[in-house]
Amino acid sequence: MSPLIIANWKMKLGLDESRLLAQAVKKIPTGSTEVVICPSFPSLTTVSAVLARSRFALGAQDCFWEPHGAYTGAVSPETLHEIGCRYVIVGHSERRQYLGETDEMVHRKVAAALSAGLVPIICVGETFEQRQTGHQDYALIQQTSRALEGIALTEDQQLIVAYEPVWVIGTGQAINPDQAQTAHQVIRQTLIDLFPLTLVTENIRIIYGGSVDSGNVADFVRLEHTAGVLVGNASLDAGAFAALIRSV
Ligand code: PGA
Repeated sequence: MSPLIIANWKMKLGLDESRLLAQAVKKIPTGSTEVVICPSFPSLTTVSAVLARSRFALGAQDCFWEPHGAYTGAVSPETLHEIGCRYVIVGHSERRQYLGETDEMVHRKVAAALSAGLVPIICVGETFEQRQTGHQDYALIQQTSRALEGIALTEDQQLIVAYEPVWVIGTGQAINPDQAQTAHQVIRQTLIDLFPLTLVTENIRIIYGGSVDSGNVADFVRLEHTAGVLVGNASLDAGAFAALIRSV
């Protein structure tokens, strides 16, 4: 499978900035790499129009767990699909931390995203405290299994699990690739306990996120059972992002 790079623009760009960055990104040669751009909600339609008929796929940064109804301020996964999204990030640690997103909410969002025909990118990762107290594996197993237990993944559906150690996000200092490899093995074993092996191998990808840049990306994509990376800061500048894609 070709490597996957997912750009998470978070809430860092305005409308014009998003359009300009999308126009610049669209010109970057991607080779066989699959690249997904996840702008903020208000920029989705603009960026969707810019990236239409390009090799870049569109993703959202969150969705609600119901397709429609009286849910003020929420965003339907069906509408995201209509806008042109193929992917949606679910359970990012910033949402867990600032908006009280729980494993149960993540679970419901994963189910709703799959029903809407989207590929969920489920973020899991330990905090610094969990790591220091020896609870890293426990946190990864809990978050992964709670998000996915009872989800009936079919052969035509895909899932992505992004391992993002919470304490390295946005710091400019990624973890050692060996540590990522160990975490990915824990996640993969959890997936094997939940789904048939063929589905885990063919329909589910595990990626790494947390201070990925053009200097370290190659060390992560070459890891066993690592299908790609989720990138925040290094995706906000077209030059830096082009260098990152080239390194892959
Ligand atoms: P970062 O963000 O690359 O800036 O660490 C990654 C993320 O939060 O998805």
